[in-house]
Amino acid sequence: MDYRIRTWPDKILKEPTKEVDFFDERLKEYIDKMWEFMYKEEGVGLAANQIGIPYQILVLDTTVREKRREEEKEDPVKMVLVNPKIVEKEGEVQSTEGCLSFPGVQITIPRAKRVKVVAKNEKGEDVVVESQEFLAIVLQHEIDHLNGIPFINYLSPLKRKLVLDKYLKSLKERELERA
Ligand code: CO
Repeated sequence: MDYRIRTWPDKILKEPTKEVDFFDERLKEYIDKMWEFMYKEEGVGLAANQIGIPYQILVLDTTVREKRREEEKEDPVKMVLVNPKIVEKEGEVQSTEGCLSFPGVQITIPRAKRVKVVAKNEKGEDVVVESQEFLAIVLQHEIDHLNGIPFINYLSPLKRKLVLDKYLKSLKERELERA
């Protein structure tokens, strides 16, 4: 497989990923690759389709952010979730987010304050995650990726167009620099 960070408008980011029914060496390889890319790119979380794997897998490590923002007092969490689904949502917060698939883009969008997620771990066992604050936001962002929903979808059409025009322009400039 051709593992590399997929950036918008790559079509793999627009399609829902498939459910995992293999808890074996192949899944382990996918997860290892995801950790590798997530740490290399200094992301807090990564959805499998962001490196070209079309399955419902996410990894996250909030210590990556803890290192940068020491004022955050929540306990750091590191986890792998397979086939994650949000089953409960509560409250609303404004969240300022970036995304490895949209280099240079940072936007503020509404997210639920608390979410409950059911999933499998890498061994295929059921797990339930009750989350709030930063962890809840990372989970919503990554699960959206797995459902083919980029974070720009939460902007109004006008704002989305402004953000995308600017992003695509910077993408083109970077390509020109490289050429
Ligand atoms: Co993202």
